[in-house]
Amino acid sequence: MELVRATEAAAIRAVPFIGRGDKNAADKAAVDAMRVFLGTVNFDGLIVIGEGEKDEAPMLFNGERVGNGRGPACDIAVDPIDGTSLTAAGRQNALSVIAVSSRGTMLDASSVFYMDKIVTGGAGRGVVSLDAPIGDNIRELSKKTGKPVGEMVLAVLDRPRHAGLIDEIRSAGAGTRLMSDGDVAGGINAARWETRIDMCVGIGGSPEGITTACALKAIGGYMQGRLAPKDDAERAGGIAAGLDIDKLLELDDMVSGDNTFFVATGVTDGGLVDGVRRQGPIIRTESIVLRSKSGTTRRVIAEHLASKWL
Ligand code: FBP
Repeated sequence: MELVRATEAAAIRAVPFIGRGDKNAADKAAVDAMRVFLGTVNFDGLIVIGEGEKDEAPMLFNGERVGNGRGPACDIAVDPIDGTSLTAAGRQNALSVIAVSSRGTMLDASSVFYMDKIVTGGAGRGVVSLDAPIGDNIRELSKKTGKPVGEMVLAVLDRPRHAGLIDEIRSAGAGTRLMSDGDVAGGINAARWETRIDMCVGIGGSPEGITTACALKAIGGYMQGRLAPKDDAERAGGIAAGLDIDKLLELDDMVSGDNTFFVATGVTDGGLVDGVRRQGPIIRTESIVLRSKSGTTRRVIAEHLASKWL
C-alpha cells in the first residue's frame, strides 16, 4: 500500500501539464515526484524497467536502487506516466504505474523496445496463441467463454503497423477498440471481468508488456508476448543482453513466481480508474492496487489536502 503514495504523487504532479502539449515536462514532473516517494518505501528495490539508461535518465534509471533498503529485495518496473502523449494532449487513459516482484523474477527486456502481445482473461489460457491467426484466437475464445464473436471487442493500439491486424479482426466478425496510446490499461481491461474488452492485441512497448504481466498475475489474466526488434541492430543488442528474441514468452517468462504487486493511479480519466480531480481544497485520486499472493484488487480513493501540494 505504501507504493500507491508514489503513483498518487506522480499523478498529482502531472496535472498542471495535462493538455499543455509538452509530454517531456509532464513525464519529468511525474518522475521527480515518484522518485521522492519511492525513496521512503520499506524495501530494497532494484529498478529493472525504468526511464532508460543512466546517462539519458538522471532518475529512475535501469539498475538504480530505490527504497530505504530495509525491507524485502524486489525488482521494480516504473512507468511514471503510461501515456505521456495522452497527458500532453489532454486525452483519456493516462496512468502512473509501478509494478514490483521478488528480486530476480522480472525479465529485463529493455534492450528491445517493442513486444507483440496477446492479453485475455483467464479463459484464454491454453486457448489463444500468438502463433495462431487472430481470427482463430477470436473464434476459440468465443467458444470457451460462450460470448458470440459478434459481441467480442479487441483493444488495439491505433498504429499504421496494425492496419492488417485490424482488418483481420473485423473480417472475423469482432469489433475493435482503437487506443491512441496506453496499452497497459488496455491489457488490464482485457483481463478484467467488468469491461467490454475481451482481448488486447498487437505490438506495444516491451516494458509495458512486463508491467502488464505483473498486473495479470494478480487478476488471474492470461498473456503471451514475443519481442519485436525494429531492426538487426536492435535484435543484436537484445541477443547481447541475453534475451531469447524469438521465444514465445508466457506470463512466467515475463515475471516468474507469485509475488507481484501492481499499483496504478489515474492521471486523466479512463476505463480503469478516474483521473485526478480538484474540488476546492481537496485533490481526489483513484488508484488500483493488485496483489498476486492474495489475488486481490483494491480500489483506493484518496482525498489529499491541496494545501499540502502547493
Ligand atoms: P509513453 O507514455 O512512454 O509515450 O508510452 C505510451 C505507449 O502507448 C505505451 O502504452 C505503448 O506500449 C507504447 O507507447 C507504444 O509505442 P508507440 O507509440 O511507439 O507505438
